[in-house]
Amino acid sequence: MGDFVDAVESVIRHVQESKDTVLAIEPLLRSLVTDPDWLNEKYRRAISAKAYAQYLLYRPADRAFSVVSFVWNPGQGSPIHDHCTWGVIGQYEGEEEESRFRILDNRLERIAVVLARPGDVSHVYPPSRDIHQITNRSATPTISIHIYGGDIGSQRRHTYDPNTAAMQEFISGYDAPDLLPPRTDWKAQEA
Ligand SMILES: [Fe+2]
Repeated sequence: MGDFVDAVESVIRHVQESKDTVLAIEPLLRSLVTDPDWLNEKYRRAISAKAYAQYLLYRPADRAFSVVSFVWNPGQGSPIHDHCTWGVIGQYEGEEEESRFRILDNRLERIAVVLARPGDVSHVYPPSRDIHQITNRSATPTISIHIYGGDIGSQRRHTYDPNTAAMQEFISGYDAPDLLPPRTDWKAQEA
């Protein structure tokens, strides 16, 4: 994880365009999510009362980016939402369905449905590739690792009504913020 964070920091400090940023980060994240032993157990736990748990794994002091593990309960999904920043998604355990949307004539149009399998990566960035919905249609919890520009837990963004495309602002926060590991935590894991 330390090497991964260093590589992401190098990308975001040197690359300007969101499209170039996500394409540069995708192979880095693919390497991370193809290591089955990498993620600590405390960031793999589903929260039974919620559709999904989101644990902050890393965030630099200037909050230029954030790395998050999402743990989805069986049969649960997100609302249709945007991010208002770039993001890269890596499938870690299980399979998640991702639907992509665009707004056309004040309604939402589903433009793609993709089943993400372990090791698959994808990306979002505004305004053209920012609206999606993730669903775990399997019978067991699934885990995906997400990296976003900025601090996604405090980012003002939106959910969308599937019928009217009406937007509603939300700020997601993080689950179990006391679990935020200092950078040295990753070094310890690798030792
Ligand atoms: Fe998302």
